[in-house]
Amino acid sequence: MLKDRYGRKINYLRISVTDRCNFKCIYCLSKGKWDWIPHEEILRFEEIEEIVKFACSVGVKRVRLTGGEPLVRKDIEVLIEMLSSISGLQDLSLTTNGYFLEEMAEILKKAGLKRINISIDTLNPQKFEKLTGKPALKKVLRGLERALEVGFDPVKINVVVIRGFNDDEVVNLAKLSFELPVEVRFIEFMPIGKNSFWSEEHIVTIDEVKQKLEQEGSLVPAEKIGGGPAEVWKWKGAKGKVGFISPISHHFCSTCNRMRITPDGRLRPCLFSDIEIDLKQALREKKATLKELFTKALELKPLRHHKNFTRRPMHAIGG
Ligand code: 5AD
Ligand code: SF4
Repeated sequence: MLKDRYGRKINYLRISVTDRCNFKCIYCLSKGKWDWIPHEEILRFEEIEEIVKFACSVGVKRVRLTGGEPLVRKDIEVLIEMLSSISGLQDLSLTTNGYFLEEMAEILKKAGLKRINISIDTLNPQKFEKLTGKPALKKVLRGLERALEVGFDPVKINVVVIRGFNDDEVVNLAKLSFELPVEVRFIEFMPIGKNSFWSEEHIVTIDEVKQKLEQEGSLVPAEKIGGGPAEVWKWKGAKGKVGFISPISHHFCSTCNRMRITPDGRLRPCLFSDIEIDLKQALREKKATLKELFTKALELKPLRHHKNFTRRPMHAIGG
């Protein structure tokens, strides 16, 4: 069992499979310099498989693949197939910007992927292009439709709420949950990546978002799927749900159940801390065992975060 020195049980790994992305979201990419991770530094599928096999043997039950954009990683469905047959792994999911889902949803489903999260921060095509650098809202919405068609359940939609950008759209975005069996989740804007355009003034708290939705109609508690920090509610009569994730206003560090793996094979005990343990030395040079390095990471896992910036940008950690 993986347990840290504060007694928190770790049963969830988020694995970033690439730092590359076909979008350039303003809140994600560093304005400053980030050297793309060289190809040979990126973990190979067999290495990721070895890590997940070990993690599952010591109590990890859920894995999420992230990026950058995980669907730009070549042959990602092969990795999904490799991981989905690992014994002990109960839940394999993926977070995507949705751009390639139209073509790939069915392939991912067949490979054994269970659940999918799609980032959609605005329903306004011009704003979407301004945010992501791509005129691609329609394509992403077709991707969402396709994911539902091929039977992903649940499909969650991630919305990072940013003051002055999309705080006027939260009700509209939440209304997607009326017609579609999706969970629309609002996430507070976090100061990840030193040079991001984050500032205190851009934060919209979850309390404020919830109030806006309550004005539209009262919300009732709903069943939660997955073991994450979201609080889940729904409007009566809606097919789907809304979720609230408040890492800034009510940090949930005391119930944190996760660690992250970066594309270059560093085990990160906390999203907000640049403490990293290099797993590649275990995998490639056999200088240490995965067990030793995971134990070290558990010892170093901080008690909580302090709204601090990180050296690594979000697209090289995976959210
Ligand atoms: N704060 C909150 N969420 C973020 N994401 C990316 N950057 C940030 C940030 N600074 C979200 C993306 C995606 C998920 C992986 O993380 O929108 O949904
Ligand atoms: Fe790409 Fe996601 Fe970062 Fe946007 S938030 S640039 S889609 S990795």
